[in-house]
Amino acid sequence: MHITYRPARGEDLAPATRIVQDAYNDLRVRHGLPPSIALGPPLFQTFSFAEPSSSLWVAEADGALQGFAFAWMRQRFWFLAQLFVQPGTQSKGIGQAMLSRIMRHAEENGAENRALITMAYNTASTGLYIRNGLYPREPLLRLVAPAPLVAERIATPRLEAVPIEPWPGPREWLGRIDEAVLGFRRESHHAFQLDGVAARALRIEQAGRPVGYAYVSGAGHVGPLAVSPGAEAGEALKAAVRGALEVQPKQVSMVVPGRADRMLDVAFGLGFRIDEPFVLLSARPFGDWSRYLPSNPGFM
Ligand SMILES: CC(C)(COP(=O)(O)OP(=O)(O)OC[C@H]1O[C@@H](n2cnc3c(N)ncnc32)[C@H](O)[C@@H]1OP(=O)(O)O)[C@@H](O)C(=O)NCCC(=O)NCCS
Repeated sequence: MHITYRPARGEDLAPATRIVQDAYNDLRVRHGLPPSIALGPPLFQTFSFAEPSSSLWVAEADGALQGFAFAWMRQRFWFLAQLFVQPGTQSKGIGQAMLSRIMRHAEENGAENRALITMAYNTASTGLYIRNGLYPREPLLRLVAPAPLVAERIATPRLEAVPIEPWPGPREWLGRIDEAVLGFRRESHHAFQLDGVAARALRIEQAGRPVGYAYVSGAGHVGPLAVSPGAEAGEALKAAVRGALEVQPKQVSMVVPGRADRMLDVAFGLGFRIDEPFVLLSARPFGDWSRYLPSNPGFM
């Protein structure tokens, strides 16, 4: 099979999403998990496609897509959001070829750090990334709980959660929290969430001052969530989870780092159970992962 590689075009995004779904579900089934990844519209990919700092590549054979790679960049921080190869054509060098091309983009744009999140049980991707200078740094657990159980157990938090004002109003305080927690600003991530993607966008307050933020999806997924140094991470999570219950989901879910011990204690107290393990890999350590919940492996 002769493979060609080229930058993605707008019309590639929908078929690329099908490769992501097929490859993810195939991986899950090979590890005894149900094939539960549903196909959604490629909203973040389409949003990122219009940004010059993003890089999207496809691998193609005989006019059919075989692989998809997508990376975004914020300031000097580069993140590989997706790298997926069609199940029948894996282990033939396509993943490495796409990774080499997309990492060139990081170099050309002066990236000072590179990172990604992958499924912790995926030995092939983890090995591939280590060979390319990205090392496992932080375990991450996707947790899920039935909403009625959480509602029954949750106590009134010591921090308040109020709606975030429309973009660009919150630019400064969101940027300050991201710099303190992650080490870089990511304005367009917030603009994307605040443009109607998040069902709830929450400003977490202490005595009227913002000490954190959290987004909640219509399906009850919490994240990204960030809590300023000095503020109580467990209380901030409780405030966000109460906000999640307001969208009246069947379940509440979130991705919690191993280092976020206060937030893990709160989550387990509320009845959350582990659904899927992920791992954060990066070229260099970054961020305070005791105060940050990523949304999902692609958005971070
Ligand atoms: C991960 C994925 C993108 C890699 O693409 P691919 O085309 O299959 O990979 P390649 O053939 O280019 O490279 C495979 C490399 O994996 C690594 N690898 C595989 N199994 C490994 C193991 N048990 N231990 C360490 N490294 C391993 C090796 O470096 C191998 O290269 P080599 O065969 O030259 O030694 C693809 O397999 C895939 O889509 N998997 C399912 C979805 C997924 O996990 N995506 C990543 C999400 S971030």
